[in-house]
Amino acid sequence: MAIEKRIEERLEELRRRKEESRLGGGSKRVEQQHAKGKLTARERIGTLLDPDTFQELDPFVTSWAADIEPGSTGYPGDAVVTGFGKVHGRLVYVYAQDFTVLGGSLSEAVAEKICKVMDLAIKNGAPVVGMNDSGGARIQEGVVSLAGYGELFLRNTMASGVVPQISVILGPCAGGAVYSPAITDFVFMVQGIGQMYITGPDVIKAATGEVVTHEVLGGAESHATKSGVAHFSYPTEQECFSEVRRLLTFLPQNNMEDPPVFPSYDDPERTDDVLAHIVPDDLVKGYDMREVINRIVDDGDFFEVHQRYAQNMIVGFARAGGRPVGIVAQQPLYLAGVLDINASIKAARFVRFCDSFNIPILTLVDVPGFMPGTEQEHRGIIRDGAKLLYAYAEATVPKITILVRKAYGGAYVVMGSKHLRADVNYAWPTAEIAVMGPDGAVGVLHRDALTASENPEELKGQLIQEYRRRWANPYVAAARGYVDDVIDPAETRPKVIKALDMLQNKRDTMPPKKHGNIPL
Ligand code: HXC
Repeated sequence: MAIEKRIEERLEELRRRKEESRLGGGSKRVEQQHAKGKLTARERIGTLLDPDTFQELDPFVTSWAADIEPGSTGYPGDAVVTGFGKVHGRLVYVYAQDFTVLGGSLSEAVAEKICKVMDLAIKNGAPVVGMNDSGGARIQEGVVSLAGYGELFLRNTMASGVVPQISVILGPCAGGAVYSPAITDFVFMVQGIGQMYITGPDVIKAATGEVVTHEVLGGAESHATKSGVAHFSYPTEQECFSEVRRLLTFLPQNNMEDPPVFPSYDDPERTDDVLAHIVPDDLVKGYDMREVINRIVDDGDFFEVHQRYAQNMIVGFARAGGRPVGIVAQQPLYLAGVLDINASIKAARFVRFCDSFNIPILTLVDVPGFMPGTEQEHRGIIRDGAKLLYAYAEATVPKITILVRKAYGGAYVVMGSKHLRADVNYAWPTAEIAVMGPDGAVGVLHRDALTASENPEELKGQLIQEYRRRWANPYVAAARGYVDDVIDPAETRPKVIKALDMLQNKRDTMPPKKHGNIPL
């Protein structure tokens, strides 16, 4: 009887302590959080995970600095909620910074809690989703909190290429704190509440006199369209978490697994006659490459990454015959699909992600070349274009390339060509593979004849036609085996699915090395 009573008391104490931890910074601060239009850390975890799957860790961990502040007993659990749960029935590790506790600032205890789930994620091979909402380093803990950030950055780097890492920015994220999300694979931001910057508006004003708002400086819109730091941006937290869940459906749990295959009700043999007419007869006219993608993949379901950044390049995930693929494609509607610095970096990082996580790469090519001009040259398009070359060349996942229209010069080689060990390369009959476009080539080859001609325009027209007939078509490359076949565009979907099927057990390697030296 006496023992039973003691257990009751203990359980009562446990409930009381858990409740205290669950309250975070207290109901007043929770109200303030809601008044800012933000969910609390626990509400966020609840929105991300499948219902009733969250298992919390470390609810009683408390900052040592609480003891050195007179009268303070600290906050059990401190300024982060950590643990694990399920998304679509699959294990995910999570942490959510709790702004109601000292502004979500990062203490040693907070860092240790986050590192614990990251270590578990690396050992057990499951993704980590981090929800960021923090005033940065805990000022009261000084260099110890900076050390905590260092430990986080180290874990992010160790986990890179081992488990998918996703950052969700739902509040301030300032100073060096931005570098943890920056190392992760995908950054999601919520408009109006998420902000990322190295130095805030006040410091900028003091240092340079520039006046700028938090939102313009580092809001979701700026990072999704201008800097490219954010891969995704959404108006609400609910939409944002639902898209994080969707992204995870395309990814394996870790680098030792293949991505999950879902049965598709979209006929793998489905042909599409619209594709045969999608490329305009007038070769300088654009068309929407997204439509090409939608017509090839299962159910027209394409999950685009970096949708509003470097829009001349399209990257994202889809399924073909149930198998996830990473798609890289030019968008002829934007800057004619030219390869510039931002497009090259965007695609290079995506290709490397796919290669890290065993996701086959489907490349759709319509590229007039690299962007000419001093602006791009002086910013280093040589180095940044080389990133994309390097990424394609080192990728050992199945690589399937469809040459849709233009594939000129170095850009032809970069975009998943046979020469960078792509596995299956098909061309549509509309493909033009050549050292340069007909206009430029005729100008170089026949400069003297054109200058001497009484009717240079007519002669140029004839020469261009002749050039197209001889060089700017898919058959010269097909004769060398650089493209494996020239296909009817209507048959692209079944061709891609059969190629993925054929390549499902592909094994390819790199020579032994510590790591390569990608031109950063
Ligand atoms: C300790 C902090 C804190 C911090 C906020 N708080 N930031 N406590 N360390 N870094 C506390 C506040 O004192 C306040 O406590 C509560 O959190 C809420 O903060 P408010 O200022 O009332 O909220 P708000 O008005 O919404 O402003 C949020 C904010 C602002 C913009 C984040 O708090 C702010 O500017 N904080 C400092 C940000 C910063 O400069 N951090 C260092 C960045 S450099 P009370 O008790 O009053 O409610 C850095 C280096 C990382 O982090 C390096 C890694 C290598």
